[in-house]
Amino acid sequence: MKILAIETSCDDTAVAVLEGKAKKLKILSNIVSSQFKLHAQYGGVYPFLAKREHQKNLPLVFQKAMKQAGNPKIDAIAITSGPGLEPCLWQGINFANDLAQKLKAPLFPTNHVEAHILANFIDRGPTSIKFPAVGLVVSGGHTQLILMKKFLDYKILGETRDDAAGECFDKVARILGLGYPGGPAIAKLAGERFSAGEPFSVKLPRPMIKQQNYDFSFSGLKTAVLYEFRKQTPQTQKSKQYLEALCAEVQQAIIDVLIFKTRKAVDDYGAKTVVLGGGVTANDELRKQFKKEFNVLMPAKKFCTDNAVMTAITAYFHWKNGDKPEGKIEAKADLTL
Ligand code: KG4
Ligand code: ZN
Repeated sequence: MKILAIETSCDDTAVAVLEGKAKKLKILSNIVSSQFKLHAQYGGVYPFLAKREHQKNLPLVFQKAMKQAGNPKIDAIAITSGPGLEPCLWQGINFANDLAQKLKAPLFPTNHVEAHILANFIDRGPTSIKFPAVGLVVSGGHTQLILMKKFLDYKILGETRDDAAGECFDKVARILGLGYPGGPAIAKLAGERFSAGEPFSVKLPRPMIKQQNYDFSFSGLKTAVLYEFRKQTPQTQKSKQYLEALCAEVQQAIIDVLIFKTRKAVDDYGAKTVVLGGGVTANDELRKQFKKEFNVLMPAKKFCTDNAVMTAITAYFHWKNGDKPEGKIEAKADLTL
């Protein structure tokens, strides 16, 4: 079974070909074309600009992925139908629809949040997860805690009430003039801070950490950074030491809240495994601290951020589960698990 997958939910145009054999999965190709440079000018993603880029990139990325895979016969096509930016989702869906007709292959819609979770099983078998499990998806668009009682079974326990954690990284980076995407830029400065001394101490809030629920809020953290930064002289604002300290504190505030709420869910539901996913879980410090705290599965870093291998594997597991695609596929910006 060879699955070609297309992912265009945000600012990455991604196509992959995955081969599913009896027990083994083989990645035949994996192409991700990022639009970072385009969106860096604006400090964030503009949906219609992103859609135009997908339109331009999709045929090229598709050709490249097929060539890398050795132009195989495709048995099924997987497409992200949501959640995500609606114009971007439609661009991918229309492309996938045309392709499905041309290749006479069935088309499987996939959920992008589920794909971030299932990215864990690209490099390891699904038996590595022990149930009940708690999933934590942390990306540019989502921060969700999910209860999984069995494989492919999800119940959302809590989510962000405003900005996602990745969005917070991106907005803070914009305030500090660090470019887009913000997460890697902040992680780099924070990393340098961890190995240096402690010349500046910056303290930021841990939003909603005391509330007895599984919800998050990160927009206040961004505002706290803005006030903290504005308080400083232009000289301090440019100081590398200050920026390193501030970045380390923002990163730690986000990690503290994520660990605290995950701990609550794990204890309340007696979870045996924590399953991470989403772009923010590529963060080295977050990975280290989660490993220390939980029995945790996390995707390889390159599969944390958006890619189409995770889209392919999502369709593959549902196909194995006997799920059949039905009806017309539509873009669903707010699709939930
Ligand atoms: O999952 P993803 O690629 O796209 C969405 O579905 O949103 O996540 C992108 C987000 C961005 O906000 C980016 O800043 C963040 O993931 N990110 C990181 C790191 N790498 C990417 N955040 C913190 N540390 C990183 N190393
Ligand atoms: Zn994503």
